[in-house]
Amino acid sequence: MSELARADGLTLRQDYFDDPSAWKGLVDLLQDTFSIDIGIQDQFGGPDPSSMPFGYFDQEGRCIANFSAFSMPMIVNGRAVKAAAYQSGAVRPEWRERGLYRDLMQRAFDRTAAEGYELDLLLTDKPVLYERYGFRTVPQHVFVAQIPKLQKSESSVRQLSLETPDDISLIKSFLQSRKPVSSCFAVVRQMEMFLLNACFNSAIRLTMLGDDAVIAWTFDGATFWLLDVAGITIPSLAAILSALDIEPDRIEICFPPDRLDCQASPEPYEGYTVLMARGKAAGEITGPLILSPMAEF
Ligand SMILES: CC(C)(COP(=O)(O)OP(=O)(O)OC[C@H]1O[C@@H](n2cnc3c(N)ncnc32)[C@H](O)[C@@H]1OP(=O)(O)O)[C@@H](O)C(=O)NCCC(=O)NCCS
Repeated sequence: MSELARADGLTLRQDYFDDPSAWKGLVDLLQDTFSIDIGIQDQFGGPDPSSMPFGYFDQEGRCIANFSAFSMPMIVNGRAVKAAAYQSGAVRPEWRERGLYRDLMQRAFDRTAAEGYELDLLLTDKPVLYERYGFRTVPQHVFVAQIPKLQKSESSVRQLSLETPDDISLIKSFLQSRKPVSSCFAVVRQMEMFLLNACFNSAIRLTMLGDDAVIAWTFDGATFWLLDVAGITIPSLAAILSALDIEPDRIEICFPPDRLDCQASPEPYEGYTVLMARGKAAGEITGPLILSPMAEF
């Protein structure tokens, strides 16, 4: 523990998600800092079991600072890569500028280095903070697709709901056995963020297409955004649009579309956060690419 933390009566806790009151402490910290409720994850079986949280707690048991790593296996340029992602970084205002975040970041980075992760990923609106730890911004692009010729679809479609336990189980089973949505840059396994992201944005629709894939998408009447496909096989863009029975004016694909059998052009993506990477596999990342919004963390 840092000298400062000891002097202030703080307790350092690692891997504390099994303690419901400590987990609630993190939920409160992120609610107060970012106005998001990660406690929703309790409805889906709790946080990612691979999480490696590092937090400081005060004498009342409040979590006053946190930084977490978790395992996010990736496909990068055709190769399965052991990747770690970092999230839930926050320090309560009254505890800032004393080095607590630096201390927690260092602990998390030491842990993932010791466990042999070959790629570190994060999303941030403060890239300068992480550049001094060797992270570099990875430019992201959305892929604007040519409108494919629609076919008469044989596939059944069914809207899924996160209010329905059977639908949640179905979505989870696809997330566990999915084929990565792209061979260029995509998660291999990630369940908790997909469900949380779907909960956070009520415009996101999850549609079961045939027996093979769950499609995550939004449509505003003109533009169709294809956010992710969690499937044992990846249907073509034409098959997806035909089954959904929509005729958009514009199609934006929010992951590299190499498995969608379509023509698409990359356009720079300007998001609120930037994607950053470091580690020995970071050099293997070649664009254009984007991390699916369903995998955002
Ligand atoms: C960003 C935040 C976590 C920093 O916490 P902190 O305890 O004040 O940070 P520390 O005192 O440990 O400083 C760590 C380093 O970050 C730098 N830093 C702090 N705030 C920064 C900011 N807003 N932009 C860029 N760098 C920043 C410090 O200069 C320091 O750099 P150094 O290690 O080279 O000396 C805190 O301000 C916070 O919770 N902000 C709101 C939530 C947020 O933005 N979280 C990060 C999401 S990616």
